[in-house]
Amino acid sequence: MENLNQEQAAVAQAQTSENAENKKASRKVFVKTYGCQMNVYDSDRMTDALSNDGYESTDTLEDADLVILNTCHIREKAAEKVYSELGRIRKLKEEKAKDGKDMMVSVAGCVAQAEGGEISRRAPVVDLVVGPQSYHRLPELLKQAKEGQKVVETEFDIEDKFKHLATPSKEAVRKRGVTSFLTVQEGCDKFCTFCVVPYTRGAEVSRSVEQIVGEAKQLAAAGVRELTLLGQNVNGWHGAGADGREWGLGELLFELAKIDGLTRLRYTTSHPRDMDDALIAAHRDLDILMPYLHLPVQSGSDAILKAMNRKHTRDDYFRLIDRIREARSDIAMSGDFIVGFPGETDQDFRDTMDLVERVGYASAFSFKYSPRPGTPGALLEEQIEENVKSDRLAELQALLAHQQQAFNASLVNQRIEVLFEKMGRREGQLAGRSPWLQPVHVNAPAELYGEMATVEIVGSSANSLEGRLI
Ligand code: SAH
Ligand code: SF4
Ligand code: F3S
Repeated sequence: MENLNQEQAAVAQAQTSENAENKKASRKVFVKTYGCQMNVYDSDRMTDALSNDGYESTDTLEDADLVILNTCHIREKAAEKVYSELGRIRKLKEEKAKDGKDMMVSVAGCVAQAEGGEISRRAPVVDLVVGPQSYHRLPELLKQAKEGQKVVETEFDIEDKFKHLATPSKEAVRKRGVTSFLTVQEGCDKFCTFCVVPYTRGAEVSRSVEQIVGEAKQLAAAGVRELTLLGQNVNGWHGAGADGREWGLGELLFELAKIDGLTRLRYTTSHPRDMDDALIAAHRDLDILMPYLHLPVQSGSDAILKAMNRKHTRDDYFRLIDRIREARSDIAMSGDFIVGFPGETDQDFRDTMDLVERVGYASAFSFKYSPRPGTPGALLEEQIEENVKSDRLAELQALLAHQQQAFNASLVNQRIEVLFEKMGRREGQLAGRSPWLQPVHVNAPAELYGEMATVEIVGSSANSLEGRLI
């Protein structure tokens, strides 16, 4: 679910720095978001908390009085990006100081949680380090930092976070557009041997039905049409209902489907082990639930799945996909893959290629294994050479790209429903998404923004579709 592609990253950037036209506000905050959708959600919550404190958002770094980097620690490259960005920010801060202007710098997110005080030692430009569970305390922490002390806050108290996080104004929701994320679950107890998330986000915590439905209604009333429920293991969500029972995600989706104004529901990211009958039934029975499922498998080899601590086999995964496709035949599959996990043989990699051939993916993310400090995988002896990882990744990505292109092409000449969620790149165009999450570009009047329309697909490319209104 992480690794925003360029387009998503641009959207995330725009979403996290929408330019409030509040002339009264005297201070400006620039938020840059890395990593997964949960960070996008959190960046918006930080902006909301700060707007109550007199900050308006800016998308121009040079104008900022406060810069927040909301970071990702999932792979080495992701974490290193932060330090190079901090280098640039240091120069800018020095320039501004010459004009007598101050700029506060904060590192938030998963690098903040994982590296804590080490960050300001390595990059003294940083005034405040704040982990993902402490964003509701941001105004107070900033105050401390302004008094001149280096502040590092990396406590784990997720329930506290959700209880106190600022809710956005109707105006703020409207500016962010007709699609929205809603975090329903955070943290992870699964401890896959390659992954930092259980260490950076803490133990798995589910929000209550009441909290989630309340937030969803508020978003819908402010104009949101498509809601994507988020969690590191979103299908493992199990929240308290007002009836005293514990609900599962399937049941929650049925409840959210009743909310006036919502026209689409999605959720991400799911773990194969948590895909239960009620959730599969929701895919069968709920038209509002989009036929697209991100269900990372990571590897097609049983030996590697075991070493990764995924706790299921490749056959379990095949059987699961059969059950899902029986319930909803047009469902499109998406996934994440890691190549070059320690000990991965050529045959293990062939098993992954074979799994991809058999499942057929509409889209997928794939990565070279990156040993992360503190995870069991990093201590394994049989680390794979970089050039082997690169070769395997190139081969896998070629197959996945071919499948994605073929899936896009299969929609040409078909009529599909598109939700228009952005102005198009060209004059007179709108951009929307298909039920299967593909971007669709259509010549359409601006009034259709936020609406659903039937579109005939007239062209396809590697990453998007072109459609015509009918
Ligand atoms: N909760 C999700 C994944 C969250 S991390 C799940 O269980 O599937 C997003 C993706 O990053 C993972 O699916 C995995 O493919 C990739 N990833 C995580 N740790 C990695 C590492 N150390 N090296 C390379 N890729 C990694
Ligand atoms: Fe990481 Fe595994 Fe948890 Fe996903 S399920 S967040 S890969 S530990
Ligand atoms: Fe990255 Fe943290 Fe998300 S490590 S993928 S930002 S949970």
